Amino acid sequence: MRRAKLSVIGAGNVGATCAHWAAAKELGDIVLLDIPDKVGVAQGKALDLWCCGPMERFDANILGTSDYKDIEGSDVIIVTAGLPRKPGMSRDDLINTNVKIVKSVSEQIKKYAPNAVVILVSNPLDAMVYTAWKVTGFPTNQIVGQAGCLDVARYCTFLAEKIGCSIEDISALLMGGHGDDMVPLPRYTSVHGIPVTELLDDATITACVDRAKVGGGEVVKLMGTSAYYAPASGSVQMAEAIIKDKKRILPCAAYCGKEYGVGGYFVGVPCVLGSGGVEKIIECKLNTDEKKLLEESVSHVKDLVGVVQNLFPELK
Ligand code: APR
Repeated sequence: MRRAKLSVIGAGNVGATCAHWAAAKELGDIVLLDIPDKVGVAQGKALDLWCCGPMERFDANILGTSDYKDIEGSDVIIVTAGLPRKPGMSRDDLINTNVKIVKSVSEQIKKYAPNAVVILVSNPLDAMVYTAWKVTGFPTNQIVGQAGCLDVARYCTFLAEKIGCSIEDISALLMGGHGDDMVPLPRYTSVHGIPVTELLDDATITACVDRAKVGGGEVVKLMGTSAYYAPASGSVQMAEAIIKDKKRILPCAAYCGKEYGVGGYFVGVPCVLGSGGVEKIIECKLNTDEKKLLEESVSHVKDLVGVVQNLFPELK
């Protein structure tokens, strides 16, 4: 049987950690690509990780490169190229630089890996997903953004701590944009089938949501650069669902046409992820308050896309 192939663009903190989680899960062969100036870093990290195989018991070729030809035949590509957030910087401050980077990366993906499912991680995420979609011209099922997996994981971590239970028993859903824009759905959060609202009061649930919302900023403040273990873990969770055709239902930034009345934007919604990429968007019933929050979140996505279109008219 042919081994799956995963390429990770950007061999920095998030990219190298994606390669690490993916190798540990033996998802397939891995290509870690960075710019020519950093090819030594990409090659060094790839070599170092490759030699973990005998200890961690994974069979995988792990290649560091700056040559996009090496991504040919990839099943999944995770894009982490771009500047991380520095203290005091909002995600939106990053937009100009990172759109340029993701634009150039997307042109290469279009050329060398037209069949790959592309998972965007670079921030501001909602703008990057749009950019990759416009530049590649790929069908919408092949373009997806990682944000929801991370936000949900942070939310679940804090809930489990408050409840005093295993994270394994928590099942939760969030929608909308990344971070501040997330739409919490405590109605859809359960602890081994028990609604979370029966185990925690509203104030505690809200505190967990709020901490998850600013989770990225909390890490930036502590260590002076943005998070990478959890963002990489979220990305690899999605890559695994696609590579193994698991049909997992995960919250992802996916293209919504009629779904949720969004009208043609990438928004965080629950999706079925399988070998076809985003195979389906699940439309949950939302109450009036939840709908309002989602609308606000969508309007921020639209604003962000508007900024991209103003800065880069060719992406309209
Ligand atoms: N092609 C390939 N790699 C690139 C390109 C490019 N055009 N431009 C920059 N890179 C590489 C950088 O050389 C660097 O090695 O992307 C890498 C980014 O790594 P870090 O600076 O360590 O940033 P990281 O913390 O990994 O964050 C990357 O993910 O979560 C988001 O907000 C975060 O946008 C940021 C991205």
